[in-house]
Amino acid sequence: MAGRLFRLVYASRWANVLGEDIEAALHRIVAASIGRNRLADVTGLLLAHDGWFVQALEGPEDQVRQLMARIGQDRRHREVRVISAASADSRLFKDWNMAGARLGRAADPLLIELGQVARFDAARLDPVGALGLLIHAGEAERRRELKDLGLPRAG
Ligand SMILES: Cc1cc2nc3c(=O)[nH]c(=O)nc-3n(C[C@H](O)[C@H](O)[C@H](O)COP(=O)(O)O)c2cc1C
Repeated sequence: MAGRLFRLVYASRWANVLGEDIEAALHRIVAASIGRNRLADVTGLLLAHDGWFVQALEGPEDQVRQLMARIGQDRRHREVRVISAASADSRLFKDWNMAGARLGRAADPLLIELGQVARFDAARLDPVGALGLLIHAGEAERRRELKDLGLPRAG
């Protein structure tokens, strides 16, 4: 049996062990993850912001837990803190076996609402705040993907 649908969200601090910037690290990690996650039926989003990662992993519970155990060992980040881990009714990031996202200025009001203005501290995000931030980042990423398709503007 595949196992019930499960979603896990964690935050961690980027550890710059490869001498690259976080943007490059994000791209490298996502590129290497897509194929593996597809095989494991895992979808999700990896947000990189201000030296932090926040990631959602969703899929069959056993696959998500196995993957998280592997990710937890990765030297490219530290202070890995699971913010929420629970069964889910549906996937929130079903379009992506993994996608990378950054936060733009449009996220500022949300960051203010989450009390994350002066300094971003992902370890302080609660389950609702962390998921809200990931959903926001996912929507921005989806708009960016659409724009990249180069659809002609109306009018
Ligand atoms: C922030 C972060 C997120 C990651 N996300 C994934 C992921 O979604 N899927 C994945 O297969 N590996 C991911 N990795 C990479 C894993 O930690 C690991 O390097 C990879 O799965 C290969 O595992 P292995 O070296 O044990 O074969 C991530 C690493 C980091 C630092």
